[in-house]
Amino acid sequence: MPTVLVVAVALVDVDGRVLIAKRPEGKKLAGLWEFPGGKVEPGERPEAALIRELNEELGIDVNEACLAPFVFASHAYDSFHLLMPLYLCRRWNGVVTAREHDALAWVKPNRLSDYPMPPADEPLVAWLRDLL
Ligand code: CDP
Repeated sequence: MPTVLVVAVALVDVDGRVLIAKRPEGKKLAGLWEFPGGKVEPGERPEAALIRELNEELGIDVNEACLAPFVFASHAYDSFHLLMPLYLCRRWNGVVTAREHDALAWVKPNRLSDYPMPPADEPLVAWLRDLL
């Protein structure tokens, strides 16, 4: 089974709310709320991949120094093994905009469990609740 490396982020605003994004219709896991991010391309550094994905998906610019590695998710999907480090980020430039998602939500950590998530993302919620 191939291993796929995806990087994801918990953007945290000044009120301590976390951004989650609804996967669009027509994609795998459509309608579930994920931490934004995406696949690391061959030869790409994970932090560079995350900065690229945040620009493409959300229209924001993030400085690498503002990305704090936080926790690693590992989940066996049917056809691949997903490894997904989650970074924390509290500073970015630009306005967060849904360019590739159906919706965005800023959610208090203790309400994150109200939103159905992909199985890889779910365990990250407890970590965030304990941290924030
Ligand atoms: O979103 P898309 O399917 O185009 O690809 P991706 O963002 O590069 O992520 C690859 C796969 O990783 C997704 O299809 C999901 O199965 C999984 N994933 C996840 O479980 N949780 C996330 N926060 C992001 C991706």
